[in-house]
Amino acid sequence: MTTSKIGRAEACANIALAKYWGKSPLGDNLTAVPSLSLTLDALRSRTEVKWCTDQEQDEVVLNGEAVVGRPLQRVSHALDLVHQEKQERPKAKVLSLNNFPTAAGLASSASGFAALICAAAHATGEKLPSSELSNLARKCSASAGRSIFPGFAELLAETGPGAPIAPANHWDVAMLVAVIASGPKPIGSTGGMLQTAQTCPYYSAWVKDAPAVFDEVKAGVLERDFERVAIHMEHSTRMMHATMITSLPPVIYLKGPTIELMHEIAKRRQKGHPEAYTMDAGPNVKVFTLGNHVAKTQAFLESIPGVEKVIICRPGPAAAELSLDSSLETAPRSRELS
Ligand code: DP6
Repeated sequence: MTTSKIGRAEACANIALAKYWGKSPLGDNLTAVPSLSLTLDALRSRTEVKWCTDQEQDEVVLNGEAVVGRPLQRVSHALDLVHQEKQERPKAKVLSLNNFPTAAGLASSASGFAALICAAAHATGEKLPSSELSNLARKCSASAGRSIFPGFAELLAETGPGAPIAPANHWDVAMLVAVIASGPKPIGSTGGMLQTAQTCPYYSAWVKDAPAVFDEVKAGVLERDFERVAIHMEHSTRMMHATMITSLPPVIYLKGPTIELMHEIAKRRQKGHPEAYTMDAGPNVKVFTLGNHVAKTQAFLESIPGVEKVIICRPGPAAAELSLDSSLETAPRSRELS
């Protein structure tokens, strides 16, 4: 007879204002450098985990498609982590929906693994503290350890859980995602950072210098100092991409319109627009701005050839369990995407 226990959760993606790139030699998916992120309210994953005693394999469906191979193994590993105290875990049926393109440098692994860990814990009937949820999510995908928290969060180098540093209402800011390409990326971030650590001649300089940049970004966020965050967030992005580009073979995520936007945004900031760029493992440009400047930044981004669409994100909420009455089938929507 089948017995099933179900849990559901929702988590937002996050964007690193101070970047993580590279694993700690201590293992366990600990990071080599500290990072600081903003949780993004418009980019969400919703996940349901159902433990099934009569099933021989985990079954995972993401956005309506069966997940196989390495991505399936990563989900099974996450389920093992949540169940580690128990003797043997039942297999699971996992359903997950993103309201944005998967694996295109839009942090789908962050929201996806944060939602998965919360849903699996919910299905197990355990109320885990957010630090423990963060630690488990971090073991699956380091950036996911930050998506457990609302607003601004940090993940220190070589330590387990992330931590919240300021709530969503701390600062009226926005992050506009200029989508330049939504297809899968040439190499995943886990593989890309391994290649960088092994072959980039400047990788050790990045690991040495990233903490000072993180400190500047953190101070800027706590003081709500836009210019300080802008300067050091952009510097963190360029330092990280410089290590990728100088790997062998190179890891190049940036495209022509990405570089165009870097030039344009630098010129616009000189003219007084509060705008700064950051890019993750993909070509999309995320533009940080103040809440009262969103319409101007949006109009500017929409005028740039090569920008497919613009998604407006504000500081988002913490990952949370969802009631079993809520609809999982309806992809989570936001005012910007509906
Ligand atoms: C460029 O968290 O996706 O977005 O831990 O291997 O799953 P894994 O990597 P992931 O890497 C994110 C890297 C980044 C910068 C950041 O979010 O800090």
